[in-house]
Amino acid sequence: MDRERELMAGNSREPYERFDLKGYLAKRRDRINEALTAILEKNRLGGRLQAAMKYSLMAGGKRIRPVLCMAASEAVGEESGRALKAGCALEMIHTYSLIHDDLPAMDDDGLRRGIKTCHIAFDEATAILAGDALLTLAFETLSGIDCKNGEQSARLLKVIRRISEAAGWQGMVEGQMRDMESEGKLLNRQQLDDIHRHKTGAMIQASVEAGAILGEGGNEEIECLKTYAGHIGLAFQVADDILNVSGDPKRLGKSVGTDQHRMKNTYPSVMGLEESKRLAETMVEKSIKALESFDEKAAPLRTLARYIIERTR
Ligand code: IPE
Ligand code: IPE
Ligand code: MG
Ligand code: MG
Repeated sequence: MDRERELMAGNSREPYERFDLKGYLAKRRDRINEALTAILEKNRLGGRLQAAMKYSLMAGGKRIRPVLCMAASEAVGEESGRALKAGCALEMIHTYSLIHDDLPAMDDDGLRRGIKTCHIAFDEATAILAGDALLTLAFETLSGIDCKNGEQSARLLKVIRRISEAAGWQGMVEGQMRDMESEGKLLNRQQLDDIHRHKTGAMIQASVEAGAILGEGGNEEIECLKTYAGHIGLAFQVADDILNVSGDPKRLGKSVGTDQHRMKNTYPSVMGLEESKRLAETMVEKSIKALESFDEKAAPLRTLARYIIERTR
């Protein structure tokens, strides 16, 4: 906790951490929340479906994926409204995945983002439909991003493709399937990495890549950012697994101890808690190293990498 406060206050030892992460996150989150509200309220249907979508989307997630998308865009050029819109789409896909992840047929969880899960606050069928609607709204939002020229349109198309791959059967959905199939079985480290890369890493990687592509980054820059994102994507799930063992449910906004209860394969269960923490640290170091050729415009990305493993929620 002390370490997180130190990081947030921007007075940590290392020079690149002398960055006001707290202020940066607050500003970005405000813009993301405003943009998400505007998208949701464009159609004032006012029914149960819209209420359920809003309930989960606006419940107060950390907005890591849109923030990463915007920070990656910033690292290669300018932070733009285009990266913000793509970030909103990523957050909708992420929120849909959480609504479905919590369903009785999956992780059967009662608490998410500090409030009752969607299927408990509403009902199962509504939660399934709210997830479906958020997923499709994400692609409606992405395809509606304004392009000024052919180059921008081509980049947007690439982003849509990358996000589709990361969200679907080659990415997150496949990861969820393997996570479920492996309940109660003993996996080795490589099999676990593979699940987590799909389940969580793919969407995090797509978030960074989308920002870099929309920000008009060059091929070399995009490659470095992909390497960065590969490491933090995995580190993010290692941290999630650790928090499920030793986190504070009030702060986390979700229940703890559930992975063990469901006999999930996690980093702490496969390699122990201390070794998992060391692994997360190594991944963050590697991710920061991948940004060596970037200047101070990548300061948000460097600090976010640390935040990802030192967070308490
Ligand atoms: C939780 O994601 C689920 C994982 C993919 C590990 P987050 O920790 O980003 O959750 P929110 O969006 O802040 O609620
Ligand atoms: C959720 O993973 C990842 C998704 C792709 C939705 P977990 O099941 O491990 O995450 P929490 O602990 O419920 O947030
Ligand atoms: Mg799950
Ligand atoms: Mg879960």
